[in-house]
Amino acid sequence: AADEEYVGNVKRQLAKIFEISLKETVPDEPDIEPLIAACTAKFGDYQCNNAMGLWSKIKGKQTPFKGPPSVGQAIMKNLPPSEMIESCSVAGPGFVNIVLSKNWIAQNLQSMLINGIDTWAPRLPFKTAVVDFSSPNIAKEMHVGHLRSTIIGDTLARMLEFSHVEVLRRNHVGDWGTQFGMLIEYLFEKFPNWEEVTEAAVGDLQAFYKASKLRFDSDPVFKERAQQAVVRLQGGEPKYRKAWAQICEISRNEFHKVYQRLGVHLEEKGESFYNPFIPRVLEELNEKGLIEESQGARVIKVEGVNIPLIVVKSDGGYNYASTDLAALWYRLNKEKAAWIIYVTDVGQDQHFQMVFKAAKRAGWIPADDTLYPKTTHVGFGLVLGDDGRRFRTRSSEVVRLVDLLDEAKTRSKAAILERETSKDWPEEEVEKTAEAVGYGAVKYADLKNNRLTNYTFNFDQMLSDKGNTAVYLLYAHARICSIIRKSGKDIEELKKIGKIVLDHPDERALGLHLLQFSEVVEEACNNLLPNVLCEYLYNLSEIFTKKFYSNCQVVGSPEETSRLLLCEATATVMRKCFYLLGIVPVYKI
Ligand code: ARG
Repeated sequence: AADEEYVGNVKRQLAKIFEISLKETVPDEPDIEPLIAACTAKFGDYQCNNAMGLWSKIKGKQTPFKGPPSVGQAIMKNLPPSEMIESCSVAGPGFVNIVLSKNWIAQNLQSMLINGIDTWAPRLPFKTAVVDFSSPNIAKEMHVGHLRSTIIGDTLARMLEFSHVEVLRRNHVGDWGTQFGMLIEYLFEKFPNWEEVTEAAVGDLQAFYKASKLRFDSDPVFKERAQQAVVRLQGGEPKYRKAWAQICEISRNEFHKVYQRLGVHLEEKGESFYNPFIPRVLEELNEKGLIEESQGARVIKVEGVNIPLIVVKSDGGYNYASTDLAALWYRLNKEKAAWIIYVTDVGQDQHFQMVFKAAKRAGWIPADDTLYPKTTHVGFGLVLGDDGRRFRTRSSEVVRLVDLLDEAKTRSKAAILERETSKDWPEEEVEKTAEAVGYGAVKYADLKNNRLTNYTFNFDQMLSDKGNTAVYLLYAHARICSIIRKSGKDIEELKKIGKIVLDHPDERALGLHLLQFSEVVEEACNNLLPNVLCEYLYNLSEIFTKKFYSNCQVVGSPEETSRLLLCEATATVMRKCFYLLGIVPVYKI
């Protein structure tokens, strides 16, 4: 039933109408797909761009048309009557400009207010997706790169979930590999009572890792023992498994603190989980003739890359790639995922391209990337410090994520306490707002850029209440809420009885932008680009503040009811944007 109610975004609804017209205009050219785009010129809201392409198809044949403009004219003339469209015109080489009916826009806003914004959720043509994100390595640093992966991955998962996709949020933690031999031996050596050892005793796992590495590099006897420990761990010896599990648990608790602060939910399926599947997966690839011998290693050659993908090292051990092949196999066959998305820094792009090409050679996924099941690497750039170099603390140590979030919160709290309005806020409210603003600022600063570019981490910039920042947007939302509160009207009641009217051009501009939410989310999902949604949100707040609210009096005007409903619609869409970006909204400033 829900499917029947779904009408689709504006573009798709227009496409339905233009499809009818295209059939009528060129009956001999079936299955022409309507090309509908937002209009950049001021002649319309949308445009249909089929005329030129159609002309080049039919110009040699018997046709009543004299060129693209006349094709455009016919497309316009053959449009069936529709309440969506107010008027059309043909421009240049046959573009059909479309002006939407303001009543139709208003009706759509009203029904969203009554039925909820989830009725605007896009529908995507597949059921299940894996988003592989965050994925830090046990006992190693969880660095800002993992923070980016966590923030970007969470947003992608939220957008897909909103669009009715079942998302498997996978934390592919690095919990397997030769470093565990050294960690385990060091644990035994340092803590004879290792079975009772907890996080508090080990202290900083990163320091623990470094110390054990030092030991490993300097003492051949220790090194020998560590190498033995790997064998015993992989052979499943209980004592070694137990020590391994303990180290993982300590790490897990540390990661969890960051996830909890960020409000990010993840399900851990680390590298170790896929380990048992590796032999049979490699066997399958071998039977298909993909695996070759090269310098003692076993490799898969892929097109376009001049190094092969090593799947078994010359010492017989498995590696990152063998694990990823097994994980991909598992996700396709056991979890039946249609889209598998990996969020890591761009530096890993070649690795993933090689894994994907191997999967194509094996016939696991189609060669054509527009078909499902498909795999995508979502790469992102570096986080830079003010000096333009890789982000570090003063002591040139890796930045600890928890410290970073602490600082964001402390700074936003100080800014809140400076405001006159916060004077009589209870302590709890100050804390809550400081977290929402501080963590929101860190997330938004990351998400608003195209993820492929490097971005400069700067607290002053991200916590400024001017410009394109989370602070500015959160305050804009709070201000809208306060307009509604101060009107003294019961907004739920207004939703039932009130009517939206978009007579003023700035009311109409706001209404149209609100209505475009659905197609923006859909685009952000299809291209896996959260910055598209950030840009939409920023524009929304600009249109509201600089156009609508500057030029249209709300409280006390004859249009008060309609305008309050427009405020409520704006706040509703903004809140959904915040939710999709993993940002907690604030209602008061
Ligand atoms: N643990 C890896 C790292 O820190 C990221 C894992 C990404 N996911 C994957 N399936 N390879 O670089």
